[in-house]
Amino acid sequence: MKEIHFREIDSTNTYLKENYASVSDLTIVSADYQSSGKGRNQRVWDSKPGENLLFSLLIKDSDYFPLYKAISIVSAYSVMKTLNEYGIEDTMIKWPNDIYVRGQKICGILLESVSRNEIECLIIGIGINVNQQAFGTDYIHPPVSMRNILNKETDMNEFKVTCFSNLLSDLEKLKDGYDYYPEISRYDYLRGQKVFHEGKEYTVEGINEDYTLKLSHDGQERNVEAGEISFHS
Ligand code: BTN
Repeated sequence: MKEIHFREIDSTNTYLKENYASVSDLTIVSADYQSSGKGRNQRVWDSKPGENLLFSLLIKDSDYFPLYKAISIVSAYSVMKTLNEYGIEDTMIKWPNDIYVRGQKICGILLESVSRNEIECLIIGIGINVNQQAFGTDYIHPPVSMRNILNKETDMNEFKVTCFSNLLSDLEKLKDGYDYYPEISRYDYLRGQKVFHEGKEYTVEGINEDYTLKLSHDGQERNVEAGEISFHS
């Protein structure tokens, strides 16, 4: 594993999207601050300088490409286990790949791919709220940090090393055929909640084995992909 670190950059995901051709497989790009941090669904990912862990992992090994959906949620599960090692309890995975602690978001993941005629690489962008204490108020899902929960600072370098090594070994295990589904489905935050899909309210039945989400409405079931549900009509 190789790490490229920036004090400031627009976005670690954008950096890899633009430079993947000259960067080696499994390189991690991290930054103290992102001036244009990106979230899922065209949202902004804000983070105070130096207070949180912001990084992107480049995957060029094509064996991973068909595992796209699994990579997204296994990355969340891997970070969740690292948070547990650091004493953060009651963690849940909010499909497709957020980590929540008692209703508050502590980690977000943005998985992107670069394709020409076929997929060239995957970029797993991860933002974990580590030492930031105060967050703005204009969030749909209120954030929380390790600092808020543990009431103490976390050593960023040590946390980062643990996080990277857990993530790389969990992804390798996935590539080798390990089935994370039974573990992951135990931490399904959305199960039983109401969501909207194509203007209709559904109940979430849970995460399927192929990591799509099963919804139901009046006894009818549907499976949806990431990006196809919302929490407001
Ligand atoms: C989300 O929950 O909407 C996903 C947030 C992903 C944020 C991370 S921070 C590092 C990487 N670079 C980005 O611009 N975004 C991801």
